[in-house]
Amino acid sequence: MQIRKYADLDALSRAAAQDFVALAKEAVAARGVFHVLLSGGSTPKRLFQLLAAMGRAALPWDAIHLWWGDERCVPPDHADSNYGMTRATLIEPLGLGNVHRIVGEGDPAAGARAYEEALVAALGSPPVVDLALQGMGPDGHTASLFPHSPGLAERTRFVVANPVDSPLTKGKTTRITLTYPAINAARHVRFLAGGADKAATLAAVLQGPRDAQTYPSQGVEGADVQWLVDEAAAARLAP
Ligand code: 6PG
Repeated sequence: MQIRKYADLDALSRAAAQDFVALAKEAVAARGVFHVLLSGGSTPKRLFQLLAAMGRAALPWDAIHLWWGDERCVPPDHADSNYGMTRATLIEPLGLGNVHRIVGEGDPAAGARAYEEALVAALGSPPVVDLALQGMGPDGHTASLFPHSPGLAERTRFVVANPVDSPLTKGKTTRITLTYPAINAARHVRFLAGGADKAATLAAVLQGPRDAQTYPSQGVEGADVQWLVDEAAAARLAP
C-alpha cells in the first residue's frame, strides 16, 4: 500500500486524473476495454471535472465502462445520487455511453441483485474491474460499507443492500454497495481522501491497529492499493 501526498484537493485530483488516463490506456491496450468503479460523495467531483476538461479525444471513452461502488436509495435526479453527480460532471459533458448505474430508486435488495448480475455478466465472478476509485468518509467508511454495518461481513455476495445508521447518512437508511469480495478483486485501487476533517481517521486507518469493523477502509486490500491524500488529511500521519 502506497501513500501519495499532495498540497491540496486540486493537486490530488490532477494526480488521480493522470492515474486514470494511464490505467485506462494500459487496460485498453491490453484487453480492449477499461472498467472503472467510481465513488460518490464530493471528493471525486474535481477529478471528473478535470477528465471532462481534457475533452473526449483524450481517452478511448468508447472502450471505457463506468460502474459505481455504491449508490444512495434515491432517483438519479436527486441531489444525493452518486450517478447524478457523475452525470453532471463527466457523463453529459463528454456524452459518454457504457454507463452502468445502480438503480437506487427501487427496492434496494432487488437493485443490489440486479447490479450483481450485471457486474458478473460483464466482469465474471468475482467481477474484476481495472480501477476502483474509493473515497473515505470522516468515520472511515468506504463505498457504503459503514462502521459496524452488516455489509462488512459479506464474503459471498458482490453487491448488497446495506442498512446503515450514521450521522453521515442523516440516520437510518439503506445504501446499495459493493462488498469487499468485489472491491478487493480490482486490479488497481486508488483512494482519494482530502480535508482536515479526515486527518484523525486517516491516521487510524493507515497507521492504527487493524479494526475494519470500526474503520471499514482498512478492509480494502489488493496488489496495488494507493492512497492519494492532501496535506490537510495527512496532518496526523506519522512521518
Ligand atoms: C458515497 C461514497 C462514499 C464517499 C465517502 C467520502 O456514496 O458517499 O461513495 O463512500 O466516498 O463518503 O465522501 P466525500 O468525498 O464527500 O468526503
